Amino acid sequence: MLKLSKERSEPDQNDPAYLISYAHHLERQARQLETEKQMVESERLRLQREVNNLKVELERLRSPPLFMGYIVEVLDNKSAVVRSTTGPNLVVSISRQVDINELKPDTRVALNQRTFSIVNILPPTQDPMVQKMELIEKPTEKYTDVGGLEAQIQELKETVELPLLKPELFEKIGIDPPKGVLLHGAPGTGKTLLAKAVAHETHAAFIRLIGSELVQKFIGEGARLVREIFEFARENSPSILFIDELDAIGSRRLDLATSGDREVQRTLMQLLSELDGFNPRGDVKVVAATNRIDILDPAMLRPGRFDRIIEIPMPNAESRLDIFKIHSSGMNLKGDVDFDYLIQMTDGTSGADIKNICTESGMFAIRSNRDHVINDDFTDAIKKISGEKETTAASITGFI
Ligand SMILES: Nc1ncnc2c1ncn2[C@@H]1O[C@H](COP(=O)(O)OP(=O)(O)O)[C@@H](O)[C@H]1O
Ligand SMILES: [Mg+2]
Repeated sequence: MLKLSKERSEPDQNDPAYLISYAHHLERQARQLETEKQMVESERLRLQREVNNLKVELERLRSPPLFMGYIVEVLDNKSAVVRSTTGPNLVVSISRQVDINELKPDTRVALNQRTFSIVNILPPTQDPMVQKMELIEKPTEKYTDVGGLEAQIQELKETVELPLLKPELFEKIGIDPPKGVLLHGAPGTGKTLLAKAVAHETHAAFIRLIGSELVQKFIGEGARLVREIFEFARENSPSILFIDELDAIGSRRLDLATSGDREVQRTLMQLLSELDGFNPRGDVKVVAATNRIDILDPAMLRPGRFDRIIEIPMPNAESRLDIFKIHSSGMNLKGDVDFDYLIQMTDGTSGADIKNICTESGMFAIRSNRDHVINDDFTDAIKKISGEKETTAASITGFI
């Protein structure tokens, strides 16, 4: 008994059985430590990777922004001419990471800020063809949808419609037809409507370019787009190129402080040069519209650019009656609607306002659970719309 207990508490170091089991024990421990080591090692690798990622991210965040530019010409496999969006054309070197075969004229590229070398190829903003196709519209407006403006319609017929429909007339007489017209007048007087109506009546392709969109949507590409649009108009002729909100690109600028201003300026220069190089005998006509002829760059108004400058006035009483009739013709009117009185009440309102009044009077009828519109609806609508015009703030909260 005594011997046994002694053996248990203090094993015989020379006992082979004990040594074997001890060796097994140590082996297990070694294996366990090995696994632990592997785990720690893999954890170390993971952390190392994370450190690397964070370093890259940090590098990326610290790196200066890249400039954007367009390839003008690839000179050899080390250098190219680029048009930077901030200014002049530059001869720059091409980074070795860039696949030179993908560099074509007008490819968008990223430029290093200090050296301007090409470091990356950027995807095009959108397929340029799709961009242009979106500009083609098929207006349904007719001359009969325009209230008043008889003299202006007549002038448009002579300057836009006739040269497109009967070019031989001008040839026979031996004069150049006008290249383009500029419509100007207060907002909502029907300039866009008129341009659409001309396009509809001549069955010409109607390409509508909106000045403010050109500036906002196609940043850095305005000048190129203008050039391409004129080309596109020629390809799709007979066509009418309508430049709406011309003031957004064509206004006079006193100082060109920001690169945005310079960019707009370049777009304007391109537009002027397109207008100058334009063949008046071709079957593309330019119609432009602006609410602010007073702020247009005088260069825009120089002869040879827009041959006719047509003022679109606010509607007089007779025209307002016309416009009321046009916009209420599809409405279900009951009882006597006193148009003479409505005209008196709407002195100084535009065609667009009158259209709003007609829509709003329909809303008053709906609110009164009627399926027809009565005179009072019109007078209520006039009060509402003229109230809104006086306090713009009210128009935000007070509308429906
Ligand atoms: N003379 C008019 N005759 C009929 N409707 C008009 C007239 N003027 C404006 N409108 C209506 O107002 C809407 C907006 O006019 P719009 O042609 O866009 O004005 P502008 O381009 O001069 O700012 C038109 O779609 C049309 O419904
Ligand atoms: Mg308009």
